[in-house]
Amino acid sequence: MNAPLAEGAGRRAATLRTERLQARGPRLEILKGITLEARRGEVLSIIGPAGAGKTTFLRCCNRMIDLNPEILISGQTLLEGIPIYGKEVDVALLRRRVGMVFSVPVPLPMSILENLTFGLRLARVSRRHLMEEVESALRAAYLWDEVKDRLSEPARNLSGGQQQRLCLARTLILQPEVLLLDEPCSGLDPISTARIEEALYQLKADLAVILVTNNVKQAARASDWTAFFLFGEMIELSPTGRLFTTPQDSRTADYISGRFG
Ligand SMILES: Nc1ncnc2c1ncn2[C@@H]1O[C@H](COP(=O)(O)OP(=O)(O)O)[C@@H](O)[C@H]1O
Ligand SMILES: [Mg+2]
Repeated sequence: MNAPLAEGAGRRAATLRTERLQARGPRLEILKGITLEARRGEVLSIIGPAGAGKTTFLRCCNRMIDLNPEILISGQTLLEGIPIYGKEVDVALLRRRVGMVFSVPVPLPMSILENLTFGLRLARVSRRHLMEEVESALRAAYLWDEVKDRLSEPARNLSGGQQQRLCLARTLILQPEVLLLDEPCSGLDPISTARIEEALYQLKADLAVILVTNNVKQAARASDWTAFFLFGEMIELSPTGRLFTTPQDSRTADYISGRFG
């Protein structure tokens, strides 16, 4: 057995699994025992109204939730079968292996190029193939053609949709095994949204994707599996086609038909 979360451990079957994951805030049970698995080759969407616990779930998956000591976590979260909440786990490495893209793109106040190489320097990647890695991350984020001639410009010159794809590229350059996206298209135009969905379609060959989306049509288009969360519970988990055609729970049916949201 490899050391916990050692570099390169078990790259083949990238899988993040939670078992009865609970998150308890000072006044509220935010997640009430979620058992869910993200597998390489698949996009898993999580849908549900505001306050359902979607963001909290993602933040538990790479221990960003550690930044909120008032929230108590119990149950299991496993990456490649190894518990990520173990004391010996290297959290910085974990967050590279389980990368996250947020709903509001926040590029660093640097050039487009530096936004990408900054993370690589932290990851101590050799400089030899730096530009190759930059190009391949930008291509994977469907941004290369739009920025290849302006890499030294400030990232803030980019449009919102381009900034979001830059944030995606910045995560991808660290070669995550699991990609978490929290409503990544909520403020974006339809073209940038389509580019991100195309990117996910290509990317899932190499990693597991969990896409939280406030747009049920996006879940229907972009994912293989869809989970519906409500008040901290997972009401339904189904193959996407089935969830949208024959939901198994009346609350799922009500939500996807827009009866509440
Ligand atoms: N740090 C926190 N302390 C207390 N309550 C929190 C905290 N973070 C989130 N919550 C509560 O947990 C619930 C779920 O929040 P969240 O995970 O952001 O839901 P969603 O992303 O589905 O909108 C909300 O009621 C929210 O107020
Ligand atoms: Mg949220």
